[in-house]
Amino acid sequence: MIRLVPLDGPFGCAAYGVDLAAGVDDDQFRTLSQALYQNRVLVLKGQTCDKDAYLRFGRQWGVPIQHVVDTARMPGYPDLLEIGNMSERRRRDALARNSAAFWHTDQSYDAEVATATMLYARKVPGQGGETRLLDMKAAYEDLDGDTRRRIDGLVAVHFYGATSGRDGELPTPKLSDSQAANVPPVPHPLVRPHSVTGERVLYAIGGTAFDIEGMPPDEADVLIRTLKAHCVQDKYIYDHKYEVGDVAIWDTQMTMHSATPIGAPNGPGTERLLWRISVRGVPGIYAQAAAAA
Ligand SMILES: [Fe+2]
Repeated sequence: MIRLVPLDGPFGCAAYGVDLAAGVDDDQFRTLSQALYQNRVLVLKGQTCDKDAYLRFGRQWGVPIQHVVDTARMPGYPDLLEIGNMSERRRRDALARNSAAFWHTDQSYDAEVATATMLYARKVPGQGGETRLLDMKAAYEDLDGDTRRRIDGLVAVHFYGATSGRDGELPTPKLSDSQAANVPPVPHPLVRPHSVTGERVLYAIGGTAFDIEGMPPDEADVLIRTLKAHCVQDKYIYDHKYEVGDVAIWDTQMTMHSATPIGAPNGPGTERLLWRISVRGVPGIYAQAAAAA
């Protein structure tokens, strides 16, 4: 029996009674996915599964995305990314270690966006290493009517890390030329419908959105900065402090997130290791229902 409990913040919920090692059946998946769509963040507590079981669960949400930063893909598991401070490169390079320490939405630089991201906490430091999650639904609904009418129908242009490093945030490392060639600038509606629920919210205003089609660049820049500043307010943010065994899932169509910067490991309780899966597309159970309708 799955038990859902609100997280200690303005949104999100925790789920107890799920065992990814044993597998998640369709009824359980329906409960979990509806909890995600209603709460935007879902944390499965107490998991002990291996990479294969984790990937099996990830594929229930959609098609895993192989990240453009190919050096971070896990050997033998290209659909998994290793996150944290433990690789040789991340131990010596603070920017590589903290490449997600800016407000962003995973894969908003791709033509086909991610629909969910999950991080499975394997090693957790005593301090730092939180994921800050931002409720874009609440932020969008609080915009005044004039702003909502103004941005409805606008199309933003995105590029990997284009506006990272602003507002005191850390910049994400630049892509190599060959990596960048795989992710040319792409357009997405500024207010975008969710692929399952149809809810329309402001999408990915931080990190990758750098221009607005048909708008003078200066005006677009001001609008993007103004909308991001509106979103990045404490009342919309939940900081997730991981426990080992957490699988934190967020609805990438309804949130932004930012990692809390962390130092290199230097003793017990300072290592951080998480396994990431991001997926695109609609979960299989919803795709089957749509096909049958
Ligand atoms: Fe991210």
